Amino acid sequence: MIGITGTGGDPDVSSHQHSESSDATRHTVRVHDGTEWHVLTCRTGANLRMLLLRNDLSPYVRLTESVNCGGRGLCATCGVRLEGDIPDPEHWHDRAAARFSYPRLSCQITVDRDLTVRLLPDKRIWGKRA
Ligand code: FES
Repeated sequence: MIGITGTGGDPDVSSHQHSESSDATRHTVRVHDGTEWHVLTCRTGANLRMLLLRNDLSPYVRLTESVNCGGRGLCATCGVRLEGDIPDPEHWHDRAAARFSYPRLSCQITVDRDLTVRLLPDKRIWGKRA
């Protein structure tokens, strides 16, 4: 099942429900939350973590929902899996994640293309299943 989700009112996030292929600044982000697909839209430059949070699609698990670094790339709790055409990592921690096939840090991903994202609702945090 695919759910169409809004964007949360962020100025860098479109309020449109569909990506316009002729508009290179708008992107579709398909997100699987472990149960179903959601389709978000945003503009180039949107931060993936913020896009997810503003659409009630948290990259965190219960334990880290309130205990995280706030998107500074320090805690490694915002990991998601990306599929398809994936942006190159820019942050050192995200480069390590990409190199070793760990989940990518959603807080360090700037949306510059259409993305397919899988949330990890049963991921391990700091060595434990959270
Ligand atoms: S929120 Fe801490 S690394 Fe992304």
